[in-house]
Amino acid sequence: MGSISSATTANNKPLTYPALLDATEVGKFELTVQSGSTNFTGMRDVPTIGFNGTYLGPTIRLKNGAVAAKIKNTINEPVTVHWHGLLVPGDADGGPHLPIAPGGIWSPELPINQAPATTWYHTHIHERTAVQVHAGLAGAMQISDDLDDDRGLPTRYGVDDLMLVLQDRRFDEAGRMVYLENMMDVMHGFTGDTMLVNGQIGRTAVVPKGVVRLRLLNGSNARTYTLKLSDGRGMHLIATDGGLLSKPVLLSQLQLASGERAEILVDFTEHGSVQLLSTDDPNQGPGGMMGRLRQILEYFGRSEFTILEFAVDSRMPSSIQKIPDHLDGNLPELNAKGIVTRRFSLDIGMGFNMMGQGMMGKMTINDRSFDMDRIDHEAKLGSTERWIIDSDVLAHPFHIHGAMFQVTKEDGAEPKPEHLGWKDTVLVENETELLVRFDHRANQNKPYMFHCHILEHEDAGMMGQFVVT
Ligand code: C2O
Ligand code: CU
Ligand code: CU
Repeated sequence: MGSISSATTANNKPLTYPALLDATEVGKFELTVQSGSTNFTGMRDVPTIGFNGTYLGPTIRLKNGAVAAKIKNTINEPVTVHWHGLLVPGDADGGPHLPIAPGGIWSPELPINQAPATTWYHTHIHERTAVQVHAGLAGAMQISDDLDDDRGLPTRYGVDDLMLVLQDRRFDEAGRMVYLENMMDVMHGFTGDTMLVNGQIGRTAVVPKGVVRLRLLNGSNARTYTLKLSDGRGMHLIATDGGLLSKPVLLSQLQLASGERAEILVDFTEHGSVQLLSTDDPNQGPGGMMGRLRQILEYFGRSEFTILEFAVDSRMPSSIQKIPDHLDGNLPELNAKGIVTRRFSLDIGMGFNMMGQGMMGKMTINDRSFDMDRIDHEAKLGSTERWIIDSDVLAHPFHIHGAMFQVTKEDGAEPKPEHLGWKDTVLVENETELLVRFDHRANQNKPYMFHCHILEHEDAGMMGQFVVT
């Protein structure tokens, strides 16, 4: 349970990519939430939900300017559509206060005004986000300024610019998709035994003999990946949640928690086929609950599994032959003097739950469970605040809506290289310090959320609300 074996992967069929819904010229797009079925394993169809399809949704490409969105809900339960990583006002953000009833339509206007980035969208319905995302209600987004050719970055969607949605799922022997089998699946977050990339198992990404851009989105309910390439080849990090860095950063491994995005360049000009690997989730471990605690896990070491195979096809046209030296992402120095400091303590309420008292609604931030009717904080429009987040025995990916932040410290030291740049989600292993910019408005009727992006934790109450006025 919860750990992935590579033996179940690799069937050599080519990976396919979500359909590209390019709204950059028309400035509008439509999504239909629909139910259907998907045969992931080849054994049987299982019930799933998706946007404009049966599982996941199209990659929506947007540019700055006003965008008219229209979402139709044709399933028999309410959903929301939250734009994770879009800096839009609270009344367009798609959080739990903006449910779309069965048969209903939601038509927000999205005033896009931000740097080019890989973002995403997913349902955020009160207490049922985890189950609906698990069933398929998520998709990727890209903000584009059309200048990536000038930057020397790969831009051909599905050829050398690859959208990769990473998810893990659990299947039984008959190929049924199973979810929440025991208390651990809520307490540690649900992890699967099978890797899906763009909703597919064991495929191979066919790439040209050149530089290839991977836009990685961790769309898993809970799993944190620690990624590396099987031949030790470096990964050139070019963008994090909020967009491009000022220059590529060469990494031998890259941690990506639920909700986070990273764009990397991989050089296939000389080195051929390779596997993208991950070590196991830091919150899972061998046998029993105590064994799953992080310190003990470090002691036993972690197992490795394959996320995706890459195979070079030299007949494919390749336009980029070298990694650029510079990028134009900028990270302004935020004024940290005399600003408001807030502390957030994330807690799974383990002592209580070990007594078998039940799980739901018992996870907390600063000892309080989520309450739709309570505003936890007020931030001033245009201000910067220092947020200090600490985690209990588990590592929690902390996410803030409607704002981007810079990670300034992790456990008192320099942040990890993959936490450079503007971020909206970061894995907090012990204590993490952020400088957060509040430049977008949310009122008390449609506040912004901050929460753990382990979706089972979010639904169990590890979430709060704030306004920006
Ligand atoms: Cu991706 Cu509030 O979530
Ligand atoms: Cu979000
Ligand atoms: Cu959590």
